Amino acid sequence: MSVKHPFAICPAQQVPELGKFPFELLYRGSPRAAVLVRFQGEVYAYLNQCVHMPRALDCENSNIFDETGRYLQCSMHSICYDPISGESLSEICLGKKLTALKVKEQDDWIYLVDKRAAITG
Ligand code: FES
Repeated sequence: MSVKHPFAICPAQQVPELGKFPFELLYRGSPRAAVLVRFQGEVYAYLNQCVHMPRALDCENSNIFDETGRYLQCSMHSICYDPISGESLSEICLGKKLTALKVKEQDDWIYLVDKRAAITG
């Protein structure tokens, strides 16, 4: 029987290129929704809340990347974000950033390594 590491989010294979993996965590002591994404082979994590309004990026449909696969995109009013920096590249909220979380991929797992956050379940 294997014991799940307290900071393990999911097996790396759960986040394919341009895919997402939603998860819950405590961020600065409050329960929040977050999402892992993979872009150009690297995994990034953000609180799943648009900078425009308090909506999840994928609130209106299941895709989190735009149709080009180059940008994260909020499905509510279509703000596009740089997947690497989380910065809005759209006129709306230009330059505002998604809240990034520190994660690392090691031994085929993805781990939360952010002192502000903890996995809840
Ligand atoms: S709520 Fe995300 S673009 Fe408006």
